[in-house]
Amino acid sequence: MASFGALLVVVGLMCPTAEALDNGLALKPTMGWLHWERFTCNTDCDTDPRNCISEQLYMQMADVMVKEGWKEAGYEYVCIDDCWPSHKRDAKGRLQADPNRFPGGIKKLADYIHSKGLKLGIYADVGKNTCAGYPGSLGYYETDAQTFADWDVDLLKFDGCFMERTLIAEGYMNMSKALNKTGRSILYSCEWPLYEWAIKQPNYTAIREYCNHWRNFNDIFDSWSSLKTILEWTASNQKIIVPAAGPGGWNDPDMLVIGNFGLSHDQQQSQMALWAIMAAPLLMSNDLRDICPRSKELLQNRMIIAINQDPLGQQGYHTARLMDFDVWERPLFGNRLAIAIMNRQELGGPRRFPISAVPGWKICVPQCNVTQILPQYKELGVQSHQKELVLSVNPTGTTLLTVTPLSSNLRKLHWNNTAVQKEHTLL
Ligand code: GLA
Repeated sequence: MASFGALLVVVGLMCPTAEALDNGLALKPTMGWLHWERFTCNTDCDTDPRNCISEQLYMQMADVMVKEGWKEAGYEYVCIDDCWPSHKRDAKGRLQADPNRFPGGIKKLADYIHSKGLKLGIYADVGKNTCAGYPGSLGYYETDAQTFADWDVDLLKFDGCFMERTLIAEGYMNMSKALNKTGRSILYSCEWPLYEWAIKQPNYTAIREYCNHWRNFNDIFDSWSSLKTILEWTASNQKIIVPAAGPGGWNDPDMLVIGNFGLSHDQQQSQMALWAIMAAPLLMSNDLRDICPRSKELLQNRMIIAINQDPLGQQGYHTARLMDFDVWERPLFGNRLAIAIMNRQELGGPRRFPISAVPGWKICVPQCNVTQILPQYKELGVQSHQKELVLSVNPTGTTLLTVTPLSSNLRKLHWNNTAVQKEHTLL
């Protein structure tokens, strides 16, 4: 194992130049569960008690997270989205939870979630109202930040509806300062760039200084077409957004919808693989009380989670589009590389893709150890750069691999590259 000091040096070298929000949080992409995509703004607890936005929903999700291995896999935050508050602030101007749906109040819910060893997230909005029309925080940033701190909340998702676009940046910065002022560690999840793109290119250096992660693009839906637009947007804007990501601050392509209704199993594998490559927060929005074993296994896949949480903290890039395949690559700690090859064709059967077409395969001169993680785990062993390894990728599916250059190559590369290093013992 690498020493902690060596780790710090490498992480330090790879860090984006901009400072991250200095609250010690999100050193790796956040993992947890968020209600929005699956449960939306269902407030009808009379006719649909099991699926409405109520304290029970989060308590049940937390119970399952502990019992069914989610917590052990790393999923930690149980997050409330829109539609939790009462339509009116209290006499002191504070937000309050809807009394019928949250009879115990948020503090009691936080205590419950904490008793399970998990963390609680809440939702508010930088503007006059939330997107679903509940009270927004405009004019109340300090009050609301203090209220959330008093309730022992651990994460705030801060939305951007009903706000003058020219004031978005200032609003998000002010809420960040207000959270900091409470003295409680509250992870700050922003939608600042998503709303600011409408008027100009956001300043990602500033965003990274104030937020722990940030949504850039439209809300995810439970469909392959929605996923495709998110990937397209990310690839088209990667030069702007990828350098901003690193320990403490991440690009957020929105929730994982694995385990719902709209994606085939291959498409679910594509989402998991690409969210790992993108160093994305892994916030599932599904019903953990009722999820099929294959989706569960995929979401709990330790090897994919390890790529997502890799200590180097370097977000991956889209590196090629060839023969209607998309290639994405992410450098990992220890000179390793994760490679995702997605078959974009929505016609026919599995198609063959030669690994030599992956731009990063050049690190495998003369040899790499290759592990296939998706569509199923398979050690492909030592592969020489010359020998043609051909992969098979299902339509809309993804083959996910890690490649590790054999240490003898590294030694050789170093020897060849710098005469000075010949004086030293390498690796
Ligand atoms: C916006 C956000 C979503 C969700 C809804 C809630 O659309 O982008 O993630 O929070 O608001 O109303």
